[in-house]
Formats: sequence, structure tokens, C-alpha cells
Amino acid sequence: MAQRIDGKKVAATVRREVAQEAARFRERFGRAPGLSVVLAGDDPASAVYVRNKEAAAKECGFEGEVLRLPNEVSTSEVLDTVLALNERRAVDGILVQLPLPRGVDEAPILEAIDPRKDVDGFHVENVGALWSGLPGLVPCTPSGCMRLLREARVDLAGKRAVVLGRSNIVGKPMAALLLREHATVTVAHSRTQGLPELCREADVLVAAVGRAKLVKASWVKPGAVVIDVGMNRDEQGKLCGDVDYAEVEPVAGAITPVPGGVGPMTIAMLMQNTLTAALAIEQARR
Ligand code: GUN
Repeated sequence: MAQRIDGKKVAATVRREVAQEAARFRERFGRAPGLSVVLAGDDPASAVYVRNKEAAAKECGFEGEVLRLPNEVSTSEVLDTVLALNERRAVDGILVQLPLPRGVDEAPILEAIDPRKDVDGFHVENVGALWSGLPGLVPCTPSGCMRLLREARVDLAGKRAVVLGRSNIVGKPMAALLLREHATVTVAHSRTQGLPELCREADVLVAAVGRAKLVKASWVKPGAVVIDVGMNRDEQGKLCGDVDYAEVEPVAGAITPVPGGVGPMTIAMLMQNTLTAALAIEQARR
């Protein structure tokens, strides 16, 4: 039986820690950390994510708001919204919810966010800092995965890690973070040949491809640690990960469930990033 890594519990701990630090921040600087979320369009999944981010920010005692823009918004209108938030002194974190509506150009918008307020860690300056080992804001989902690995007391030094997926949001930053902890990292993706055999070499397997129950028991080395970033629906419409949990759980040494694994960690780490950004911004003002 694998150890079940309880992301819901760890995320609650992170939010409690952040709330305590936010209270100290407020005493020290006379204001709360501020998070602004830009939600353009009417993607139903995005609406749920943003609502959960709002609730977590409130729980942590942050100030903030959700700026809603219509589906027909232009790139320059989103850009103007971001530029105005860059200037606002009460705003420490800016998050532009992805995906943006069709026709809106994502890259210039992400690059327009002040890197100090880039709580998603998607700006090239933060991406470069991560790969260079410099301080910066780190994307929330991979840093949540790292926190779970730490909580499960997984020693990464010298271990083989396979990251399934090469997105800018998860796969690539995950690889950088594992490398920073001295793992030997392979990034695999849809064009990778011999995927099952490759995954079976992993001591730590991180699945972030968005394919329901792709990872089977035969893909997993007995005793491996399996982190499932997937958020899919199965044939019955039930929420499931990229890992076939029922099959893999008896083989793995430790595994994250879906739901209740990585998902809650993403939002908790966003709160942590907002606090980190707020502290750096206030310290630079002094
Ligand atoms: N859409 C799906 N995941 C994310 C995320 O981590 N950040 C943002 N901004 N949008 C997302």
C-alpha cells in the first residue's frame, strides 16, 4: 500500500502559515498583502479556479479583487488592465487567469506584468531566474509539488525523476526545481518514444500531460513516488488524474490522489507567492 500524500491537508497548513505571516505583515506595514486576478471571458473551469483563489485570499487576510473582462476583450485592453495594476501600490500580486479568450495574445500580456508582482512566475525574468538559480517567483503548481515531496520526506538527491509534460506552467519549471534538488531529470512528452519503459525507470514520476489515467501500473517502478498533476474527467464524467490511481496505488511507494493532491497546493502556493512578493515590495520601499 502506497503512502497517500494528502495535498488538502498540506495546503491547509500552508494557508494557515501564510495567514499568520500576513497578520504580521499588516502590523508592520499598515496594510494587507494585495492580490488582483484578471479573469477574461467565460471559461467555466477558470471561473471555478478564480472563485477558489478569491476564497483562499480572503482566508489569508489579503486584500484583492477579481477584474472581470468580457469574452470579446482585445489584447490591448487586457494589457492596459495589467499596466494599471503594475502602478497600484496596494497590489502585490497580479494573476492573469489562463487560458485567455480566443484572439487574445498571451505572450505580451504575461511579459507586461511587473516581474516583482508576477505571482504565477510566468514572466521570462522569473523563468530565467529559476533556471539560473537566482531568487524570483516560482510557478505555483510545481512549487506545490515540491512542497508535497518535502512533506513526504522524499530525498531527491541523485534520484531519477521523470516529468511527463513540457508545459511552461508545470513541466518545464518542475524539471528546474527537481534539478535544483539534485535529481537526475528527464522531461518526457507526447513525442517521446518508449514512454512506459522510460517512466518505469523513475524513482519520482510527475505526470502533467492532461490525459486521463494515462499512467498504468506497468509504467511505475515498485516503490516509486508518483505525483499526479492531471485534472481530467473519466468516461463517467468523474474527476481523475493522469495516473490510473486504482492500478498504480498498489505499486507506488507514495502517491497523490485526484482530487485532494496537487490541486489544493497550487492555490496555497499562490498565497505564499503573494506574501513573498508583498514582503519584497515593501522592503524595497524602505
Ligand atoms: N490556468 C491553469 N493553471 C493556471 C495557473 O497556474 N495560472 C494561471 N494564471 N492560469 C492557469
